[in-house]
Amino acid sequence: NKVYYFRSVSSTMEVAKKLAEQEKNFLVIAEKQTAGRGRLGRPWISNEGGIWMSLLIRPSISLRESFILTYLASLCVCKALRQITSLSFYLKWPNDIVFLTNDEIKKVAGILLELKAEVDKIDYAIIGIGINVNNQINSFEPTGISLKELTNRLWNRTDIIIEIMKNFYHYFQVKPEEILNEWKQLCLTLGKKVKIIRPQGELIGKALDIAEDGALWLEAENQRAVKIYSGDCIHLR
Ligand code: BTN
Repeated sequence: NKVYYFRSVSSTMEVAKKLAEQEKNFLVIAEKQTAGRGRLGRPWISNEGGIWMSLLIRPSISLRESFILTYLASLCVCKALRQITSLSFYLKWPNDIVFLTNDEIKKVAGILLELKAEVDKIDYAIIGIGINVNNQINSFEPTGISLKELTNRLWNRTDIIIEIMKNFYHYFQVKPEEILNEWKQLCLTLGKKVKIIRPQGELIGKALDIAEDGALWLEAENQRAVKIYSGDCIHLR
């Protein structure tokens, strides 16, 4: 499968979408993005030194089953970073790869999933992966950290990308239940008191489990457990 490499793009998500018209499965990598996107419509700062890439795949799964792709991707990235650096990276719901320093959660990487589907059939999925590797984090991103800042050394980005791709090839063969199980074992959110921020309002409760459909089971105070499908998650204690 092809790898497209660019010095600078608006967003690797956009480039992948264009290339989807002529190519089947591929990876788009850029040194820098001028209009990087994060989850929930937020911008994603992508200066030189990080890993900014989008993997386009055409899995034969339905739209309902597609939630597994973000779990699969964040698990692959988390494990690759552990394998390469020997540091204990964890997952934070829904799909952040984080590191714990002095009881503070610092985000190292994030995943953005975009789908094209006809009715319930997926045409393609673009898995966007952003990893802060050798790049400087802006001071107005206090919850972010790069591998360089964490370890005081530079890291070979090709080694990391190869490790991630190896993990993808492995986990594409693995059943969703098994992926979720492994994901949960590395997840810091479960068992914690969390605040979920959504457009329709905030919810505070205990994060209990990940449901079979990918939702977060949240036990809000004095209420029955509810399923949360998206939103911002803040760990309270
Ligand atoms: C998040 O909000 O945590 C997701 C961040 C995803 C960033 C990556 S970088 C490569 C790809 N291109 C983008 O514009 N965004 C994703």
